Amino acid sequence: MRLDPHSYADVGQPRTRSIDLALRVDFSRRTLEGEIALHFHQPGDGKLDLDTRDLRIDAVTSLDGASLRHELAPAQPILGSRLRVTLPGRAAGVRIQYGTSPTASALQWLEPAQTAGGQPFLFSQCQPIHARSLAPLQDTPRIRITVGSARFTVPSRLRTLMAAASKGREPSSDTEAVDVFEMPQPIPPYLLAFAVGDLTARELSPRCAVWAERPLADAAAYEFGEAEKMLRAGEDLFGPYEWDRYDVLVMPPSFPYGGMENPRLTFVTPSVLAGDRSLASVIAHELAHAWTGNLVTNASANDFWLNEGFTVYAERRITEALYGRDMAELHAASGRHDLQMALDRFAPRPELTRLRTDLEGVDPDEAYSSIPYEKGYLLLRKLEETAGRPVWDRFLRAYLGKFRFQSITTDDFLQFLETQLPGLAARAGALEFIDRPGLPDHAPEPQSARLEALSSGGEPRNPTELLVLLQATAPDAAKLRELDSRWDLSRRKSLELRHTFVLLQLRAGMPEAVDAARRVLLETGRMRYLRPVYTELARRDAAVARRIYDEARGGYHHIARTVVEAVLKEQSAER
Ligand code: BES
Ligand code: ZN
Repeated sequence: MRLDPHSYADVGQPRTRSIDLALRVDFSRRTLEGEIALHFHQPGDGKLDLDTRDLRIDAVTSLDGASLRHELAPAQPILGSRLRVTLPGRAAGVRIQYGTSPTASALQWLEPAQTAGGQPFLFSQCQPIHARSLAPLQDTPRIRITVGSARFTVPSRLRTLMAAASKGREPSSDTEAVDVFEMPQPIPPYLLAFAVGDLTARELSPRCAVWAERPLADAAAYEFGEAEKMLRAGEDLFGPYEWDRYDVLVMPPSFPYGGMENPRLTFVTPSVLAGDRSLASVIAHELAHAWTGNLVTNASANDFWLNEGFTVYAERRITEALYGRDMAELHAASGRHDLQMALDRFAPRPELTRLRTDLEGVDPDEAYSSIPYEKGYLLLRKLEETAGRPVWDRFLRAYLGKFRFQSITTDDFLQFLETQLPGLAARAGALEFIDRPGLPDHAPEPQSARLEALSSGGEPRNPTELLVLLQATAPDAAKLRELDSRWDLSRRKSLELRHTFVLLQLRAGMPEAVDAARRVLLETGRMRYLRPVYTELARRDAAVARRIYDEARGGYHHIARTVVEAVLKEQSAER
């Protein structure tokens, strides 16, 4: 029986406990070539089904090198190709020689001109189901693995960083070196991550550093200067940080997400470098995943809200601890706005607005939205408010302790909640959030003195307040011009502010909006900005949207291209 609708892994078969990787990174061919060894928890025999996508399989052997029968099935659209290996009696593992495709879905290969430092760059993004395009493995978060050793052979002027512990560099040839890592904590395969580039570090504290291409390093060190403070706030709230180091790697602009919680090494979009620390909540979020997501992990994409809803909740608790309740409520209000946009977008597919989903046959990248984040947050806040904070905080600690280094379903959460705090879920109406589409009437509403001041015409005092104000502003050209001259919105570095303003300009039909939109779309590949700006732009003028996309496309990740192409297609179908 299969464990996860998005994996060929089978419950009856041996489970991987650890892997070893040895890969040569070939920038000219855009491939990884090498070997993976899978070591099982218990020796096994019979069939072993692995996930692969666009891999070339050269040889499959036992750990000691005896060749094994195997068969690569035809590719399925979402899952990829099943690699079925026939194990001999009591096999402790398998070893596979393979190569990746230049179009591997987990990888983006960048030309020197697409980076800040003018050197080639490679990065991986495995969540949700792209690890299988990097290596043949059981690509489901139900199966956690350690990494005994990962060895990357790279051009010696570049360096590999992995979301793992560094074991140093060994010379390999005149022009190449081998960067070595290990990952002692068991992780779901979607947290395997590495990047190769001309990267340099700035220490932030004994256990925190930021990595970036040289031209961005100082700006990054300033922007993320509060990482250690956030880490301490997280530990006070949620218990010890289990991952030793917490480093941040600034990605090239094509990185499709705001951040990715790769263990020990958060990947972040360079668009968080606003120069004023106003987007530091992205770091609070990715750091919070160290507890919610990385320690306690969703069992499949159907329970994604357990990762993201809990993490938004944890992120806002960190924000509240460091910057006060008003600031946390501003973020909650802004999140409530994002949630409404997502609910509107998914109106034709209400089943995707539940927290617990059934994504069998659905590509999780297609179901992705703010709903698991912000509706999940509101459910957890409702539970907190119903139980009272001290009781709820004790529950949270117990939950993280009970399920640490495990992958769980929504049902596991609900059952544990019932044993710890009987009747609470019913009193909070939890199942209405979990299994019904839309947002229940009894959902909590963000409230604070600053929110009230803003809604009754008070002046914003910081970028987050300005954002909340903009999100509540009607698209009226005269009003927008006044706001622009007061707050310099069209020249803001923060894309959070600038893209929100551009959306308003587009809706108001202002002539300057198209060029402003174009500048946003050429500057970033972050989907959070691309999706709404292309949607609004294409509504106004589909041909212009298409032209800008043709110009910008080379700077986007393939996941972002898929999203934008879907938006453009939808908009042209609507006319
Ligand atoms: N884990 C997500 C990013 C992700 C989700 C990648 C699903 C692939 C599939 C990450 O933690 C995240 O939530 N990023 C947000 C940050 C924001 C909530 C502060 C983003 O990218 O916008
Ligand atoms: Zn997240």
